[in-house]
Amino acid sequence: MGKRVITIDGPSGAGKSTISRILAHHLGYTYLDTGAMYRAVALKTLRFHLDLRNETELRALLSNLNLSFKGNKDGFHIFLDGKDVTHEIRTPEIGMQASYISSNAVVRETLWRIQRQIGEEGNVILEGRDMGTVVFPDAEVKFFLVASPEVRALRRHRELLEQGKSIEWQEVFEDVIKRDVNDTKRDLSPLRPAEDAIIIDSTQMSIEEVKNTMLKILKERMLRA
Ligand code: DC
Repeated sequence: MGKRVITIDGPSGAGKSTISRILAHHLGYTYLDTGAMYRAVALKTLRFHLDLRNETELRALLSNLNLSFKGNKDGFHIFLDGKDVTHEIRTPEIGMQASYISSNAVVRETLWRIQRQIGEEGNVILEGRDMGTVVFPDAEVKFFLVASPEVRALRRHRELLEQGKSIEWQEVFEDVIKRDVNDTKRDLSPLRPAEDAIIIDSTQMSIEEVKNTMLKILKERMLRA
């Protein structure tokens, strides 16, 4: 079997990260959470109070960008300038800033380059918004994971509470809706399924059911290839 690339795209809170980790563990693949990359850049722009309209400053910030990752059965960790920022980037504020900076062409081109390098190593799962449409249009298997906004907000809310953050469900829900609008309406790489993506609606499914559905498809596809 050759070196494979599996992509999982979809809106915020659909369960992409959880399922990517589970599948990576099952298949012995690495995985890349590309949303975390946008979040890390967002963190850096906030730290430096960067005005995105200042292209010279933005290019300088991105040319000094030092991102590294560890994605295995134990989860995904992202390091910005050598420091583990995995937890720090999981706030609604960074999520909004990530959604905002992700419509910037210089930011996207920089991150696409890194994503392609990692994908080319093969046997990797890449999750995000445009993995199957733009970054890896030739991926072996493309999934598009969706769920209703209410269920996605419930899942995100539960996660935030588990991390000890105090936040109302309504606020998380509004955040989900706002980010959906930003992610689907932007000109560059808007969130949409690739023509050959397999759409899975996890609204009524447990994570175990999503896993079994995906594994069944992967087995069929990979045996055929
Ligand atoms: O998946 P997430 O919520 O951690 O992603 C944060 C933001 O990053 C999201 O609102 C849109 C952006 N993003 C993107 O534009 N392209 C990707 N491949 C991944 C994330």
